[in-house]
Amino acid sequence: MKVFICKMCAHIEFSSAPGTCPVCGAPQSQFQQNDKVFDESAEKSPEGGIKHVPVITVVADCKLIPEQNCTDILVRVGETLHPMEEKHYITFLDLYLDNRYVSRVMLSPDMYPGAVFHLKSTGSKVSVVEMCNLHGYWINKADI
Ligand SMILES: [Fe+2]
Repeated sequence: MKVFICKMCAHIEFSSAPGTCPVCGAPQSQFQQNDKVFDESAEKSPEGGIKHVPVITVVADCKLIPEQNCTDILVRVGETLHPMEEKHYITFLDLYLDNRYVSRVMLSPDMYPGAVFHLKSTGSKVSVVEMCNLHGYWINKADI
């Protein structure tokens, strides 16, 4: 899988670099390809997966928007909860539907490392990319 990273906001796009970054609006020239970015994080922190790989739970019927049958993607980082401290925290979660970017949730040390996405779109697979300010990029996928 090809991976393109925005140098301005750290957003990742798969397959090709977009005309402009959907998160920060930076031009295509700001994207740099690094297909090994997830492998690099795992190699630098071989024990880090348990605290960094996003845990994804899919709930098909949360009842928040019952007339629309939203599909809810619950994300927690990670199996052992990642710290959220001034010097070490999860900065954002980016959600993708079939490798197409959908939305970002920004996090801060005042928050727990998790989020819920209420999807109206249908697809077959969601991916969540997580950025740790010290330990880089981690990803996980789930069928919906
Ligand atoms: Fe970390």
